[in-house]
Amino acid sequence: MASNNRVKGMSIMLPITEAEFKQLADYIKNNFGIYLKPEKQALLTGRLSNILENNKFTSFSEYYDYVIKDQTGKAAVSLIDRIATNYTYFMREIEHFHYLQNAVLPYLENTIKDRDLRIWSAGCSTGEEAYTLSFILDEYFKDKNWWDKKILATDISVGALTTAKDGIYDQKQLAPLPPIWKLNYFKKLASHKYEVIDRIKKEVIFRKLNLITDKFEFKKPFHIIFCRNVMIYFDNKDKMELIRKFYDITAHGGYLFIGHSESIARNDSNYSYIMPAVYRKI
Ligand SMILES: C[S@@+](CC[C@H](N)C(=O)[O-])C[C@H]1O[C@@H](n2cnc3c(N)ncnc32)[C@H](O)[C@@H]1O
Repeated sequence: MASNNRVKGMSIMLPITEAEFKQLADYIKNNFGIYLKPEKQALLTGRLSNILENNKFTSFSEYYDYVIKDQTGKAAVSLIDRIATNYTYFMREIEHFHYLQNAVLPYLENTIKDRDLRIWSAGCSTGEEAYTLSFILDEYFKDKNWWDKKILATDISVGALTTAKDGIYDQKQLAPLPPIWKLNYFKKLASHKYEVIDRIKKEVIFRKLNLITDKFEFKKPFHIIFCRNVMIYFDNKDKMELIRKFYDITAHGGYLFIGHSESIARNDSNYSYIMPAVYRKI
């Protein structure tokens, strides 16, 4: 065993050279926007060790060659599924949802003439954010079913999107939700897990979309964009470019919600600051 190999359970983690790390980190940055600082070497090797072991690769360069030569795209999918941090939960950063209910929705209800409310959860991970939004809209518009309030929910990670589409969560994951929502919006399965009801599932459209490399080709602008805890993984240049793309696709009077640990400097975008992590196109 090479001296810098580390034993994880029964398996041996392959060592990575600086050049190999740079090669993979550059690939990840260029293709997914995720910026891995040199300190993230252990994270990278840890997250990829299973793939390397299962496919019997003998080095990270061999794995890299396999990824770039793979024409099916499957290697890139499994790479991003390992690298993306999918951590999320229902009602995360709850102040945003309160603001949405109390200020944003009343304003939009009074100003959107065609009753086509357009919301995008960008970087939706396993679906909790998009479903939380859908529960809020369902409650808010409950006697107004002439409103079209479908939510677009996108992510780069196919694994996360599969979980999101299934809409199955365990009891612990549902803990932050008000009991009435558990009752109204989930059905209990024989496995003791909970599945989002079909009526809500139909309101959320999950799609694969790469925020960095894909063009935003939407027919109409969005009134509300949630892109929370996603840009933290991007470098400043990619973040600025993404904010510009969001701005272009935001309707006048529309809102951008970002994560509470994130911010947009006043001079870096045309959005106006409303409150922590909430911006508006005025
Ligand atoms: C930490 S989760 C945030 C989930 C949710 N928005 C929240 O705040 O709880 C970050 C998500 O961003 C996604 N992501 C990372 N890079 C992306 C990219 N270039 N395009 C689209 N999604 C990306 C990841 O796959 C992951 O699901």
